[in-house]
Order: sequence, then C-alpha cells, then structure tokens
Amino acid sequence: MCGIVGYIGNKQAYPILINGLKRLEYRGYDSAGVAIYSDDLYIYKRKGKVQELIDYAKGKNIKGTIGIGHTRWATHGKPDNVNAHPHVSGNGRLTLIHNGIIENYALLKEALKKEGHVFESETDTEVLVHFIEEIQKRDNLKLEEAVRIALSKVVGAYAIVVMDKQDPDKLVAARKASPLVIGIGEDEFFVASDPTPIAEYTQKVVFLNDEEIAMVNRNGDLQIKTIEDEIQTPFIQEVDLKIEELEKGDYEHFMLKEIYEQPQTVADCMRGRINSKEGWIKVGGVDTTRDRIFNAKRFIIAACGTSWHAGLIGEYLFEELARISVEVEYASELRYRNPIINSDDVVIALSQSGETADTLAALELAKEKGALCYGIVNNVGSSIARLTHAGSYIHAGPEIGVASTKAFTGQVTLLSMMAIHLGYERGTIPRSYYLQLLEELENIPNKIESLLKSTKKQIEFIAGEIKDADNALYLGRGYNFPIALEGALKLKEISYIHAEGYPAAEMKHGPIALIDENMPVICIATNKSAYEKIVSNIQEVKARKGMVIAIVKEGDTVISKIADYTIEIPDTDEPLTPLLSVVPLQLLSYHIALMRGCNVDQPRNLAKSVTVE
Ligand code: M6R
Repeated sequence: MCGIVGYIGNKQAYPILINGLKRLEYRGYDSAGVAIYSDDLYIYKRKGKVQELIDYAKGKNIKGTIGIGHTRWATHGKPDNVNAHPHVSGNGRLTLIHNGIIENYALLKEALKKEGHVFESETDTEVLVHFIEEIQKRDNLKLEEAVRIALSKVVGAYAIVVMDKQDPDKLVAARKASPLVIGIGEDEFFVASDPTPIAEYTQKVVFLNDEEIAMVNRNGDLQIKTIEDEIQTPFIQEVDLKIEELEKGDYEHFMLKEIYEQPQTVADCMRGRINSKEGWIKVGGVDTTRDRIFNAKRFIIAACGTSWHAGLIGEYLFEELARISVEVEYASELRYRNPIINSDDVVIALSQSGETADTLAALELAKEKGALCYGIVNNVGSSIARLTHAGSYIHAGPEIGVASTKAFTGQVTLLSMMAIHLGYERGTIPRSYYLQLLEELENIPNKIESLLKSTKKQIEFIAGEIKDADNALYLGRGYNFPIALEGALKLKEISYIHAEGYPAAEMKHGPIALIDENMPVICIATNKSAYEKIVSNIQEVKARKGMVIAIVKEGDTVISKIADYTIEIPDTDEPLTPLLSVVPLQLLSYHIALMRGCNVDQPRNLAKSVTVE
C-alpha cells in the first residue's frame, strides 16, 4: 500500500520518478506527488492518479537530479491534495515519503505541538517528518542520525525516503515491515517499494531488511546501518525483471494480459520441477527441509484473500493425496488468537506479493513457536521469501492487475506439485496414480490455452446477460468450493456486484432464501465425485427460478439440459480441476466489470499489496 520511489544521480529525476510512480500505481492511487531539488525545493502533489500529477506539473519547474515520489493508498486522512505525500518539515528543510502507519503518531503530534509545530495535514507521515526535524534541530545532527533516532522512538510500520535541502547530495531511506529496495546504477541510486521502477535502469539491487537505514550519496557511496547504529554490508543481488513483463503490450488491461499468460505461467512454475516421462518431481524447498516436512504432524496454511483460497485448495490436496492434516487460516486471525503451533508443525505462508502485513506477522509468530516456516511466494526477494526457513517461488512474473489471477493458478500449481510429491514419497498414492497426475499436470497449460480460446465468445455473451445483476451466488463442491469463493471475490472486487461463494450443499441452509429470477447462480460443476449431488443443487436453484450458469466438463449432457448457460472446460483429474475451473470465472468477472465501466486494473478502495494490517 502506497508506492515510494527516489532517485539521485546525473539524470533528470522527474521522468524517472513519474515512470516509477506509474509502475507503482497498483499499490495505491488516491493521490500522487513528487519533490525535486535543483536551485530550491519544488513539490507537486495532486489527489487522484499519477496522470493528474503529470497534468498539474506541466510547464512547472521539474528540473533536478535528486527527488522523491509517492503514490498513496489513504490510511490517515482523506485522499486530497493536502494529505498527499511528500510531506515537509515545519522549517521547510526536510521532505519525506512514507508507506506504512506510525501508530504512536497522535502522542508525538501532541508533544510536537507543544514545541510549536503546526500541522497542515491529517497524516501520520507529516508528524514523522516534523519529529525528525525536531531531533535534527535540537542536536544539530546529520539527516541520517536524526532519522535513526526518530525511528527508534516510532511504533508502527514504515518504508520512508527523506531528502534534506541543505544536503542535496544524499537520500536517506529506512524500512520496518514495509518493503524497500535500493537500485544501484552507474553513479546513481534508486529507491523504491519494489524493483519494478528500477528494472529498466539497473538489475542490481539491495533489499533492505527491517530496521535498516540506507544512505545513498551522489558520490556513489551506499551505506547501510541498523537502527541500533551497527554498520551492515550491503547484500547486492541481481533481479531478473524484463520490461515487457511490466507493460500491458497489446492487451487493454493488465488483468486480461495476466489471465491470458496463464498457460505460460503455469508451465514456468513447473519448469525443471517435474518430468512425467522420467517419473520425477522436485520441489527445491521441500527437498532441503525434507525431514521436517515429511514428518510434519500438521500443515498450517496462512494467507489472505485470493491466496487464502489457494490455501483451501492446498488443504484438499494435502489431505487427499498425502494424508497430512491441514488447517487453513486467515493470517489476520491466526496472528491475534494465541494459536497452538508446535515445533513439528509446518506453517506455509502463501502470498503473491510476499509483503502482506498480516501474513508476515503470522509467520513471525509461527517462527517464534518453533514451526518450520515455508513460503510460497511470487515476488522474488520479498519479505516473506526472506523470513521463511525454506520455500518455493511460483515464477508467475510481475502481477500488476489488482485482482489476482495468474498468481492464484501459480500457487495452486505449486501446492499440487508438493502434494503429489509428498503423497508419493509417503506412500499414500500408488505409483500409477502418481505418474498419471504428473502427466496430467504437464497437460494443464495446453488445456488452459484451449479453454481460453473455446470459451471466449460465450463468456462475453453471458457477461452481457448478467452484468446488471445486483447480487450473484457461486456454488461448488469439493475442489470447486474454494473456486466458488474465488469466483465471487473476483466479481465483487472489480465489478462491485455483491457476490457470495458457498459450498453447494450449504445453499439449503440459508442462501436459498435469496434465489429468485434476478439472482444469477454460477455453479462450478465439473466434479466427478458427488456429481449427482451438484445436479440436485442446480435443480433446486432452477425450481426457484434462479438463473444458472454452469461450468461443466466437456461432453456433459446432463447439466447443459437444466442450466440456462453452460461453459465447457477440458476434463482433468479431480485434484487438478481448480487450475481449469477458475479461468472462466476470472474472464467472466473481467468482462462484466468492463461492461459496467469499472476500472478493472485499479478497482476502487483496493491496493495490490496490503502492507498495513
Ligand atoms: O500478496 P498476497 O497474495 O499476500 O495478497 C493477498 C490478498 O491481498 C490478495 O489476494 C487480494 O485478495 C487480491 N486483491 C485478490 O484478487
């Protein structure tokens, strides 16, 4: 939440900051702002998207080779020009951008007011920059020292970049529980919330750790120290980010591009990890922690949102194939309820961004309690990836649309590989079934490809039929129950239609009261087991005049006779069904949102990466 970017070097800062903010806009789009220093400090900030800022800054002085920029997801204070970042200290000397929440800001603000500080905005960030100023002034300290002392008294989460107009050859950046990465170019440095604004200039980066402060100087110096004042050696890594991955290309939206990338991203997730002909499966992180994973008493999967839905599929997979008992937890609940976690448990954190605050906190708790912590993450070098004992990347590439699509199928692919691997090694599935599942998993990318082609027109048509609904119900059983939840989440987050996902049999225990001719009911009915049961559920909806849209497997002749519309998808083994059945639901939501004139990639009130709790 909130994107931050900074630059110091020989190039003009403004275009770099603006490009960076565009790349980071997925993190928040309530307001955008930049501060640039040349002969003086120039600050431009505007409510709304980065484009508003660009229009506002047109014709103004945007020269300068040092600057900072921010795109906001509002926490403290409404989205407006005054609350937009950067914020300035009372004496006009310091400017600061911030991602996170300063929890003790009210106390600090009261104390600062007594010292004569006057505040313009409602933000916690403005308090922080005044606090740094106060410390700097009192003891005539260098910026980095004032920042260090201030942060040691702050409670909360932050990634900040600070600029001092009396020392315009330096930026000071720091983080705690919000991500921050330093890019190292030729005689230049970049600072950003993630590597996407940096990748087109340099692939050399340092991911800051919690409670570290970085000083980047125009003379090429990079220094990192902890908040306790201990010097750290920067760990420089190469990121492998291609610019095409960060662009929409020929697609109208990132979400559509990401849906269509799934044949490739699922294949990328499996690359080098399975081979059905040779009969092997290798998941690096599992092999390095083999004893603890194979002998685990229990898996606990912690995640939020779409990743939590992938976790539910993990529960079905691990329990059915590997006979390991699994609990799936909302990370936000797990962290606050003193859970029973033992040293023979494995806690799996699922996260696209690897930065979700609640998932990170749940992991920290699990680590304290001695569990093995395993991360399944998309973003390379992210906080979760670094906090866990072991883990696996899903290799889906940058996911920029706020609605998660390819990361979900990547997570489910990875969980499927782990479950098949564990099941075979633990002797809970026979070799013949193991080989069949491997082969079938390898076929999934082609099957996604073919369903994307075969269902396109029909999904657009159905979207037109239900686009004006106020509510929708999604029903599924077994492996398709989490898909019902995911389908409903996709619809509500981008089209603002209220939608609920339910286990199909639960419908009779309440939601059936809602069904009438205005209620589209999307039934995910590709199951082989309990097929008759879901047919009965569909009959029950029809008997109450509900409109049924059924996702069925190819050649289904029963449901197509009862449902109003059917979408056929290729057949596969039941545990792998979610990898196919979710795709038409992603597309359906996309087209409905488009027809309703919604901003598909940047839905209202949401941000891609939820780094505050
Ligand atoms: O980055 P994470 O996977 O940890 O994010 C978790 C959720 O915030 C995320 O899945 C969210 O629900 C998406 N908007 C869903 O499309």
